[in-house]
Amino acid sequence: MANNVRPESMERITTPALAQAFIEEQIAEIRAQVGDKKVLLALSGGVDSSVVAALLIKAIGKQLVCVHVNHGLMRKGESEDVIRIFGEEMDANLVYVDATDRFLNLLAGVSDPEKKRKIIGAEFINVFDEESAKLSGISFLAQGTIYPDILESIKAAESGKPVKSHHNVGGLPEDMKMDLVEPIKLLFKDEVRVVGEALGLPHGMVYRQPFPGPGLGVRCLGAITRDRLHALREADAILREEFANSGLAEHVWQYFIAVPDVKSVGVRNEMRYEGWPAIIRAVNTTDAMSATIEEIPYALLHRITDRITHEVEGINRVLYDLTPKPIGTIEWE
Ligand code: XMP
Repeated sequence: MANNVRPESMERITTPALAQAFIEEQIAEIRAQVGDKKVLLALSGGVDSSVVAALLIKAIGKQLVCVHVNHGLMRKGESEDVIRIFGEEMDANLVYVDATDRFLNLLAGVSDPEKKRKIIGAEFINVFDEESAKLSGISFLAQGTIYPDILESIKAAESGKPVKSHHNVGGLPEDMKMDLVEPIKLLFKDEVRVVGEALGLPHGMVYRQPFPGPGLGVRCLGAITRDRLHALREADAILREEFANSGLAEHVWQYFIAVPDVKSVGVRNEMRYEGWPAIIRAVNTTDAMSATIEEIPYALLHRITDRITHEVEGINRVLYDLTPKPIGTIEWE
């Protein structure tokens, strides 16, 4: 446990120079720990796993094997970004697994949010296990654990209360017989970002908004269908693009679209057009325990509505969710 405690003397990493010093120190530590052995990493493309990947690529190059599981619930372009940035630009040893059909087949007809989460979490482990079984000579498992995760587990252990179920989604099996490499486990999120930029990762990846492990699976409300999931992904991409262009993406904590399994009547090309509503959620928070609503300018709301209803097949209305947390949770499921 001792090396899971951040020493009081540890300086907060706030500048590129401090990040560089941290990177060099970690490269030496990783090389000493790993030697000439191989390390496996589940690379989601989120900030933490991406920073760990970039650090390990610097330290041990092709001895790192990254596995990116596309569960079919990623946002538009995300898996492609992982392939381009890590597979091509950083020339990493990257195994890409498109498991879309497996996940969507298992989820077909399942509408209960907790069941959906369990299916996605369990199948993620199955796919990852199968992929790691195909690889030989792996001695270490790298993880993007950060200091708040450690603090939370300590708190949970002390209080006897389990960590919220959703924090385990996408987690890895405890019986994996590999030693752990956790180079950013004493860092807070803001420090991880400074280190990520110093490692040359794109700004958009390092400052990306939090994205739940079950991905769009908990935003395609109720039983997921491929056509509604596609509409959700396209509408979400438009929202993200408009938020980026208007500068809102820089300061809104989390913003996304949810699409319920409800149709309403509309008119398109003078014909009756039944479609789903796209619900905009844009919230600010410091700890995700409570959240306030971002006041999106009306002109931007009009523009987003216009684009989504004209560009996305199957969507005929756009709604703006004004509910703070509590009483609503951030996600709809
Ligand atoms: P709620 O909806 O509980 O969300 O207000 C709080 C934060 O947690 C994220 N979230 C999840 N993250 N797996 C995750 O990894 C999940 O199943 C999950 N559900 C919610 C949510 O996006 C928000 O940031």
